Amino acid sequence: MSGTKRGASEPPAFDAHAYWQARHRKFGADFRGVGNVSLTGEANERQIHQKALLLAYLLGRLGVSRGARVLDAGCGRGYLTMLLAQTGFDCVGCDVSQDAIENAYGRDRVAYVQSPLATLDLGEAFAAVLCIDVLYHVVDDEEWQRSLAALLAHTQPGGHLYIVENLTSEPSHSPHCRWRTIADYEAFCRQGRARIVGVETYTPLEIQREKSVLLIQA
Ligand SMILES: C[S@@+](CC[C@H](N)C(=O)[O-])C[C@H]1O[C@@H](n2cnc3c(N)ncnc32)[C@H](O)[C@@H]1O
Repeated sequence: MSGTKRGASEPPAFDAHAYWQARHRKFGADFRGVGNVSLTGEANERQIHQKALLLAYLLGRLGVSRGARVLDAGCGRGYLTMLLAQTGFDCVGCDVSQDAIENAYGRDRVAYVQSPLATLDLGEAFAAVLCIDVLYHVVDDEEWQRSLAALLAHTQPGGHLYIVENLTSEPSHSPHCRWRTIADYEAFCRQGRARIVGVETYTPLEIQREKSVLLIQA
């Protein structure tokens, strides 16, 4: 959080990291912890399976095959990470929430690390780095830039960043969401020497609003 002094009548600044720690603690294994809180846990579970199918299809299209080292950045309790590991990928998961990491799935075959994206330093680059429904929760623009730079630094040259986003120029009315546009990502890629090689849209079950998968090559 910034050290800016706030007036007595101003509401406290939103602390995104504390928000996610509390949210994981509250929901535990209920899929609302990593999904949409206005849907049921079961509806969120159906959505995560839809995300898994799309992920498997797109990883195949990118030529990321079983056995590849994959980082799931912002993995929550690692449900998708575990599915990937069970399918034969060699996975590392990271999340800002200590609670999510301590209770993550498949700890026998996935290496889990607690860290915010912006300061992630695993000393390794991966064939694919996944960041699924996470970056629009990094509401601070400067932290968002540092987070993307860290993700890119963990991607092998020629490897891919797989980002699930809500690309829109509309303002978000939730303090834990900040929508960004394709232009924001294009500007980042220009300075980070990466390129967007695909934008795939899909409509999550039970929500009639498109989401995008941004594929960025390092
Ligand atoms: C909507 S959930 C998505 C979880 C998982 N990727 C999935 O698709 O099921 C967002 C996740 O991002 C994590 N997160 C939020 N801000 C983060 C940050 N700055 N660094 C790392 N993880 C973060 C949250 O703790 C949460 O687990």
